[in-house]
This record gives sequence, structure tokens and C-alpha cells, in this order.
Amino acid sequence: MKLKMAEMRSSITSSSSRRRSEKEVVMFPFMAQGHIIPFLALALQIESKKSFSITFVNTPLNIRKLRSTLPHNSSIRLLEIPFSSSDHGLPPNSENTDVLPYPYVIRLLEASTSLKPAFQKILQDRKPLCVIADLFFGWTASVAKELGIFHVVFSGCSGFGLACYCSLWLNLPHRKINDGSDGYFSLPDFEEANKIHMSQLPLNISEANGEDAWSKFQFQNLSHWFNSDGMLFNTVSGFDQLGLMYFRRKFNRPVWPIGPVLLPSESRASVGKQTEFTSMVCREWLDSKPLNSVLYVSFGSMNTISPSQMMELATALDRCNKNFIWVVRPPIGFDINSEFKAEEWLPEGFEERVKGRGLLVQSWAPQVEILSHNAVSAFLSHCGWNSAIESLSNGVPMLAWPMAAEQFFNAVLLEREVGVCVEVARGKMCEVRHQDLVDKIELVMSNRDKGSEMRKKASELKDMIEIAVKDDDEEISGLKGSSSKALDDFFCAAMAYETEQYSMK
Ligand SMILES: *[C@@H]1O[C@H](CO)[C@@H](O)[C@H](O)[C@H]1NC(C)=O
Ligand SMILES: *[C@@H]1O[C@H](CO)[C@@H](O)[C@H](O)[C@H]1NC(C)=O
Ligand SMILES: *[C@@H]1O[C@H](CO)[C@@H](O)[C@H](O)[C@H]1NC(C)=O
Repeated sequence: MKLKMAEMRSSITSSSSRRRSEKEVVMFPFMAQGHIIPFLALALQIESKKSFSITFVNTPLNIRKLRSTLPHNSSIRLLEIPFSSSDHGLPPNSENTDVLPYPYVIRLLEASTSLKPAFQKILQDRKPLCVIADLFFGWTASVAKELGIFHVVFSGCSGFGLACYCSLWLNLPHRKINDGSDGYFSLPDFEEANKIHMSQLPLNISEANGEDAWSKFQFQNLSHWFNSDGMLFNTVSGFDQLGLMYFRRKFNRPVWPIGPVLLPSESRASVGKQTEFTSMVCREWLDSKPLNSVLYVSFGSMNTISPSQMMELATALDRCNKNFIWVVRPPIGFDINSEFKAEEWLPEGFEERVKGRGLLVQSWAPQVEILSHNAVSAFLSHCGWNSAIESLSNGVPMLAWPMAAEQFFNAVLLEREVGVCVEVARGKMCEVRHQDLVDKIELVMSNRDKGSEMRKKASELKDMIEIAVKDDDEEISGLKGSSSKALDDFFCAAMAYETEQYSMK
């Protein structure tokens, strides 16, 4: 028996009484903060909009950490999957890439494939409606399919960024470039991305030769998505078509752009006196500044720049005479979470000279609050997709300094395809000159020419995003935006699949 579409739609929408249905969604991100956070954001969004019960699976230490992050009123179930890092040649108690030196990251990835029997058991016991798994957990697709369970891959990346990333791993085109190319090459199955340069490759791709552990892992595991029933992306169809099209073409499966999926601010920092104080300082400081006059500078919680780059950036902020908030972290070579030593890492007298127009914030700042303040004019960012999409949601144009992973390709998307960004530097080791930074900051913050064009474009994107997430009931002639519709379509596909499995038995 098939449920009618309308019935199905209404059955997935959260009832006003907030009664949770028996139907369960199992979510399983890779053990890295950059993966767990978008999954948590998606879990909270599904919880607030839909009536399914949600089970969030991860290894014991990550679950313990999540317990303190999850809002108290949340009904999301946290489920431990047994894992002991020391059984896999990893240091004891290291279950997250955050606590591992780079050479161990690949080992954690390889070790994660050992979770297969335990995950299979979880699915057998729970018989969920569907599985939403990490893009590094391609193997979960065949586990789910064997049990007749709907399976999708969720990516916290942009479609464009992930398309470049996958295409690079599956083809390693930079291995085949010839001498006359000046380091440029194109992607054989994603020509729409145009020319890519060697300097835009993250370390593990530029070093990849097809025989190393990273290449082997990615090549074997990425292609396992072919067993999945579709993909969810934290993006908006209106500005990320090229990348989404790549996956539709490559995997011949539905691709649902459901973004922006953002973590509510209550769940971001462990709320404490320090963060409350920082938020208040930033708010009061911004309130005292004119409209569109402040540059916000932050490279996220995982990245930092070299000591010489830090000097150049400080000199640029000194010379350009603009207001700024700079979230500072110790440079490369020092513990990123240690105390920031301004007298050691910034030019002499810097803080004195920028007093009043420059605010230095140590390690954490209320990013969404800052970006949504109308005094903020531009965002100098590493272009991690979360930061980028927060900037776009608030109509703030960007200066890109990509540093790792698919950030380089996010910068390409934002600059070339979307037109709200100017790249200022590339990588953690590149040489930057303060004058170049000054010129680009002035260009983006200017109210004329390219600056005003970018601001206009950014504000159009903000509107586009607002429309995409509109979620009124269509029945009462409300509007459903593309992202809300995509989330509904995904759940309808999962329900239809379940009905089909049931009728086959
Ligand atoms: C929990 O509380 C927050 C803030 O008050 C609210 O926005 C959210 O919808 C609540 N979540 C649930 C599941 O009730
Ligand atoms: C290597 O790849 C992982 C996974 O994509 C990524 O998180 C990491 O940043 C990469 N390392 C470098 C140095 O780019
Ligand atoms: C993923 O890669 C690892 C290591 O390269 C390999 O052992 C494993 O079999 C792969 N998984 C699948 C499902 O192919």
C-alpha cells in the first residue's frame, strides 16, 4: 500500500503537540569536529522541524563531549559505538582528529572501517527509517542496503567544493600535467570548475600519488557512495548548481540541497562567563561603529597562519585605517589553544596604534552575532563552508584566505561563480605582502565600483537564502523554499522506500 504524497508530507511534519513518531533517523558523522558539528546542526534542525526521533551515533569520547553540547531540552538520543583507539595503533583516548597530529588522521580514517560490525548491529536492533552518514563512511551504504534501510550521505561542504575534492581524489589529474601548463590543470569529470592551480591543492592531495594511504582510502571509499540512495548538502540550490550537478551526473542519484543548516548560537560555545563577556564587549564595540565600517577577521578554530603572515596581516590592518575585529590565535609552531602573546607575535606598538578602531579577541568570538551586525562590512575568512554560509546568510562580502581541505574551492565558488569574494592569499605557507592585503581590503570595503557591486550581490544572496528556507505550509498558500522542499523530498523518498520494502516482504 502506498501512502499518498500529501499524507506523507503531513506525516513528516512536526505536529503541534510535538509528539515524536516511532520512525527513527540514525546519524553517523566521522570523528572530527568539522564533521560532527554540521551533523549536530542538521540533527537539531530535523528535531525542530520534523517528528522523527533521532539517534546520533559516535565513539564513546565524542559522545561524552556531545552530552555537554546538546541543548537540555533536546530529545536527540546519543549512542556510543564501541571503539578503542589503542587497538588501531593510535595513541590512547584519541577518537577525534582534533587531538591527533596530522600523520595519524589517516589511521583514524582507516580504523573507522572497523566499526562496520558494530554499526550493522545498531541498524539490526533499531531498524531505523533511514541512515544519514558521513562522506568518509561510504561503507555504511552497503550495510544499510543489505538490511533494506534507506541511506544518504550528508556533506557539510559546498557542492562545488566537494565536487572538486572528489574529482581530484578519483582522478589525481595534477599527476598528469605537462611542463607548459604553469601548474594549471582541469578536472577530467568536472570541466565546469575550469582551471585549478597546484597551489590550490590541500596537502594530502598534492602529495597523493595513487599508492599512498590517503589515495587508497579515498579511492576505495568515495566510490562506495554509489550504493547510497542520495546526498544531502548544506547548501542552497540557487548559487551552487554546478557542484550539485556534478553529483547528480556522477552518481545518478537524487541530490538534496537543504542548507543553510547552522548550529543555533546556544550550542556553539559552552556558555560561560567568559563567552558572555566577550559577546557583550563585541556587541557594545560594534554598536559604537558606523554602518558598514568594520572588517571582521577570523580563520576558524582549527586554523592559524605563520608568524611572518601574522606580521604582514597586522601591518595591513595598521595601514588600511579601517575598523576591525580580529580573532587572534597563536601562529603556526605554537599551541593553537595557548595564550596569545601580542608583544611577541604582533609588530611593536600595534595595539596602541589601532586603539579605538581595532578590537583583538582571543580564540573565540560570537561569529554569527558579529556577522549579523550592520556595522560589519566584510569578512576575511579561511572559507570553511560553515563560515562562508554564515557570511552569505548575513549578506556580508568576503576576503578569502583558504588554508586546507576544500576551502580553496569554496573560495573559487564565491569569487568566480557567485561574485561576493576576493581571494587575498592561499595556504598557510604562502608569502603575503601587506600592501596587497591593504589594496584588497580597500577594494572590498569601498562603497564604489567592485566593492558596491559585491555588497549588492551579497545582499541578493541573503534574500535568496531567506526564501530558500521559508517553510510555510503549502496547503494554506504559504511558501516553501527550495531547501525546505528538499528536506521534505528527502524524507518522502525515505518513507516511499520503506513502504516499498514492506510490500516486497
Ligand atoms: C529548545 O529550546 C530552544 C530555545 O528556547 C528552542 O529554540 C528549541 O526549539 C527547543 N527545542 C525543542 C526540541 O523543544
Ligand atoms: C587532509 O584531508 C582531511 C580530510 O579531508 C582534511 O580535513 C585535512 O585538512 C587535510 N589536510 C590538509 C593538510 O589539508
Ligand atoms: C576504505 O579504505 C580502506 C583503507 O584503504 C580499506 O581497507 C577499506 O576496505 C575501504 N572500504 C571499502 C568499503 O572499500
